[in-house]
Amino acid sequence: MSPNRHDDRTIKDFGEQWLKYSDNDGYYGSMELFSDMIHPFLKPDELKNCLVAEIGSGTGRIVNMLLTAGAKHVIAIEPSVAFEVLCAKVSESERVTCLKITGNQLPAYGNLDYVFSIGVLHHIPDPTPVVEAVFRALRPGGRFLVWLYGKEGNGFYLAFVMPLRVLTKRLPHFALSALVSMTYWPLLFYIKLCHKLALPLREYMLSVLEKMSPEKRRLIIYDQLNPAYAKYYTRHEAIKLLEDGGFINVRIHHRHGYSWTVIGTKPLI
Ligand SMILES: C[S@@+](CC[C@H](N)C(=O)[O-])C[C@H]1O[C@@H](n2cnc3c(N)ncnc32)[C@H](O)[C@@H]1O
Repeated sequence: MSPNRHDDRTIKDFGEQWLKYSDNDGYYGSMELFSDMIHPFLKPDELKNCLVAEIGSGTGRIVNMLLTAGAKHVIAIEPSVAFEVLCAKVSESERVTCLKITGNQLPAYGNLDYVFSIGVLHHIPDPTPVVEAVFRALRPGGRFLVWLYGKEGNGFYLAFVMPLRVLTKRLPHFALSALVSMTYWPLLFYIKLCHKLALPLREYMLSVLEKMSPEKRRLIIYDQLNPAYAKYYTRHEAIKLLEDGGFINVRIHHRHGYSWTVIGTKPLI
């Protein structure tokens, strides 16, 4: 499949996903999770009165976290049909501008303090134009924080899930949600076992997944199996993604041993 067709399929898949799983309640939409996502590079307080954008906002949970953190204004970018859900879910609409565009079309504002992209760039076959658009939209000294799936720490998981995804990314919603329901109880058993044994993904299971409601655990399984394209980044690839876009002082954190939080700064001159 060509990169463009992959892009279109991914956007369509997510649009359908968010129409089915549209709420952001509990730990999934909490400031506790937001603090964990941006740790150790930022604290929510640092976003007070800042101009911020989020690329790939889905149902708006990160937008609402940014508003709760005190951002002055948030630009929310969502290209799929979930745009309608996003507009309905943002908590303080006068502090938000929702744009139904892809990340590479982010306007070159040149005055944003921060741009966030949480769980999005790994679904875009060629993310470089998005990184370049973010660079243009930031002010000099502004920072871009991304969260990406990691390759390191996911070997066991990928050996099992990647072959499965060949089938699941083609399944219609009713079939995929039935499959997700079947995997739910074994997953719960696995989480319980992680309390006793040093199993793969133990830290993620206990620090993140166990805190989610049953509905959100199902969404997370669905979210792994549904998208047409998903890349698991090595540490080197994750750093290079931002450095190639012109960012400096790129720093990386292996979040819960399974994913990357990466932050880079737009140079002052
Ligand atoms: C896994 S979701 C993440 C949503 C949100 N950031 C969150 O963490 O709740 C990925 C989102 O990126 C959007 N997306 C896909 N391709 C995109 C692109 N080229 N530009 C911007 N957003 C895109 C999808 O429609 C989807 O809503």
